[in-house]
Amino acid sequence: MGLKADSIVIEGGKPLRGRIEVRGAKNLATKAMVASLLGDTPSLLQDVPEISDVDVVSRMLDAYGVAVTSPAPGELLLDPVNVARSHFETIDALAGSSRIPILFCGPLLHRLGEALIPDLGGCRIGDRPIDFHMDALRAFGAIVDKSYEGIRITAPDGLRGANIELPFPSVGATEQVLLTAVKAKGVTELKNAAIEPEIMDLIAVLQKMGAIIWTEANRTIFIEGVDQLSGYTHRAISDRNEAASWAAAALVTRGDIFVGGAKQQDLMTFLNVFRKVGGAFDVREDGIRFWHPGGALKPVQVETDVHPGFMTDWQQPLIVALTQAEGVSVVHETVYENRFGFTDALNDMGADIVVHRDGLESVTRRVPRRKLEQAAVVTGPTPLHGAEVRVPDLRGGFSYLIAALAAQGRSRVSNIGIISRGYEHFVEKLEALGADFTLEA
Ligand code: EPZ
Repeated sequence: MGLKADSIVIEGGKPLRGRIEVRGAKNLATKAMVASLLGDTPSLLQDVPEISDVDVVSRMLDAYGVAVTSPAPGELLLDPVNVARSHFETIDALAGSSRIPILFCGPLLHRLGEALIPDLGGCRIGDRPIDFHMDALRAFGAIVDKSYEGIRITAPDGLRGANIELPFPSVGATEQVLLTAVKAKGVTELKNAAIEPEIMDLIAVLQKMGAIIWTEANRTIFIEGVDQLSGYTHRAISDRNEAASWAAAALVTRGDIFVGGAKQQDLMTFLNVFRKVGGAFDVREDGIRFWHPGGALKPVQVETDVHPGFMTDWQQPLIVALTQAEGVSVVHETVYENRFGFTDALNDMGADIVVHRDGLESVTRRVPRRKLEQAAVVTGPTPLHGAEVRVPDLRGGFSYLIAALAAQGRSRVSNIGIISRGYEHFVEKLEALGADFTLEA
């Protein structure tokens, strides 16, 4: 945050060593901030990372009259007492770089009877449609109108509990249903829900506010609507995606990084793959140490999936590690249809990655899932060399950083502002780990 530089020039080939801390998860903190709109009293969120996605949501809440202050470092006090309508232009201007605004719908419908959704931002990693969100809101009784400025949602007769089955266990759509159902009249049954740890943490936040929510086997969540919710005090779950990224950085640079705040429970699937590739780790009470134990890395076959599977946000840093493994690895992406675009630049740095847009039928996969599946075949080991690369999206961007850190020679990674959407103080952390770099405006 507060990052002024556009580019980082990295002298690669130096192992990263040392300790860094991860704080609250981007994909929980931003949603918990939205939940504060549902309360009649202020909420206190702790361990909030200083990332630009948190900034965007703060400014959007502010536009709706929520007073957002920081009583102490890493804490946000969110006072929703004076919530009021906002101007479309204001929301549109603020929302540009994030997908979180769509989650304002339920809380705003409850508070103001109306929500306006501008064109959404976020990483360009596929179509990222919002049909599950809109269908769910309609099931609650909302009326969705498309206008020239965006989408206008109203609920003239209030919102009623609904039976909803998601076509895919979407994280955002599950959050949409939770944030809407908690104050809808009656009981909501949500089938095929996402059950990511960040969603469980959001349920914990909502329960603290007074909501009644329970989960059953097979991805089913029940929500019994209540008339009133109050504020919460909550420490955000730690950022497992950031932790996994630094773990990969340790492996790729043949380094040794202690990731303070990393939690084994939320990283189990990642840790299994990390071990199979040949990485070493040691779980301690205050975090996890990740290191390259020497010797050759091993190839793997991985399929990204919803939780408890291997997160789609972990494949980009993993792929950089796989360029150094001895043999052929295959990574199937089953969550987003366009999340291998970042591999072109890795090939420019010397990697051998072939993307099969229609997937690979010949490889036996655990769950044959959706048509959009694609596969990246990574053949290693290939020495990486410095190059000029431009950050395309958040996770792809971090993978370029670690590729550049491992590469022989100098790399320039531009458009690094995107990385601060989700990686707190990443420049300071690189410095703490002994990376050799300079910043450029
Ligand atoms: C969240 O995105 C995260 N973002 C993503 O992290 C993460 O990759 C993703 O969940 C999967 O874990 C935030 O939490 C802000 P989805 P979200 O709805 O909620 C399709 C990062 O780098 N879909 O679970 O937008 C969709 O196109 C980001 O931190 C529909 O078809 O993801 C995708 O193929 C990137 N219609 C799949 O479902 C819909 O209405 C999963 O998307 C909604 C989704």
